Amino acid sequence: MTWFYDPRRSYEDNYAHGPFGAFAAPPPALPAPTARASFLGHDVASPFGIPAGPLVNAAFCAAAFRHGFDVNVYKTVRTGARAAHPLPNALAVHVDGRLAAGRVDPVLADAALEGATSISNSFGVPSRDPDAWQPDMAAAVAAAGEGQLLVGSFQGTHPAPDAPDREAAYVADHVAAAALVAEAGVPVLELNLSCPNEGTGALLCFDVPLVACIVAAVKERVGDLPLLLKLAHFRDDAALARMVDATAGIVDGYAAVNTLPARLVGADGAPALPGAGREVAGVCGDAIRWAGLEMVGRLARLREDAGRPYAIVGVGGVLTAEHHAAYRAAGADAVMSATGAMIDPGLGAAVRALPVSP
Ligand SMILES: Cc1cc2nc3c(=O)[nH]c(=O)nc-3n(C[C@H](O)[C@H](O)[C@H](O)COP(=O)(O)O)c2cc1C
Repeated sequence: MTWFYDPRRSYEDNYAHGPFGAFAAPPPALPAPTARASFLGHDVASPFGIPAGPLVNAAFCAAAFRHGFDVNVYKTVRTGARAAHPLPNALAVHVDGRLAAGRVDPVLADAALEGATSISNSFGVPSRDPDAWQPDMAAAVAAAGEGQLLVGSFQGTHPAPDAPDREAAYVADHVAAAALVAEAGVPVLELNLSCPNEGTGALLCFDVPLVACIVAAVKERVGDLPLLLKLAHFRDDAALARMVDATAGIVDGYAAVNTLPARLVGADGAPALPGAGREVAGVCGDAIRWAGLEMVGRLARLREDAGRPYAIVGVGGVLTAEHHAAYRAAGADAVMSATGAMIDPGLGAAVRALPVSP
């Protein structure tokens, strides 16, 4: 296996010893960019890169930049340290075609990752303490070359069940996380509202009043720094319209889509991932491309209908330069690939060399 994030190793092992595969080797000569673009006020060589996830620290981000991924997201951080779920985190997920949103039948998942194009993602959003991740995130910002951009992803953490005024504390934790990320010097922030590990049934992005409150407080704290919201797949058009209506005047764009949830089982029918709360896990890669494209199309229509100038980042199942082109055609201003980039670390260079984008 030659993935730069090696899913057979623990998160800690990847963090300490990665990146692996092609990202550990000297970078190839990159093609001259054919489609420079302006993204959130920044000139980028190509509006393409790797979303929050496999770039767990500055060494991974630096390697991604060197390999021609021009807009990359440093994996989601929190205001306090949190351990990763134990192995396995990423399994091969055997879906025939598309993974349906809200599928109730179990889906077969196993360790046969070689050749897999859809995988699970069950990490629990680990984080180091800010004292450790802030200088590392600053190093990732510094690793961006000319025409490259580092985005810092963060999320809030629920206070303890017996904490007083839990909602106010939850909002405050988001603001504190945003301030710490801004302090690290990132030029763009991304707020993860779609963390499947905080409960797949009740993702924060579906709670519009709470999101509006969090986003207003975060924006007040970070001022003019561009802020993206990372969304899950909305099955209901009206719900997505309400979310956009409540936040488009505050934020600078939306990134969609995060993983789709599925109940993963092994060949024996038992849960594929060990431990309570991991029966349902996020699926990414080929099987969810339809969901990312659908979300981008709907966000683009809402943007047009309301005349709102927000940016759209298309994510989900981008395995080839053609998939990237499909996202651009659907209305994405930038496109990102996590699973596809791990499988093919040459994807950034391939997109850089494409004929001019639409
Ligand atoms: C190993 C891995 C870790 C991830 N961790 C995060 C994360 O910390 N924050 C986040 O917003 N999304 C995370 N994601 C989700 C990706 O950003 C992306 O939304 C999802 O994988 C769909 O893209 P893909 O089909 O190209 O993989 C992760 C994905 C992978 C594969």
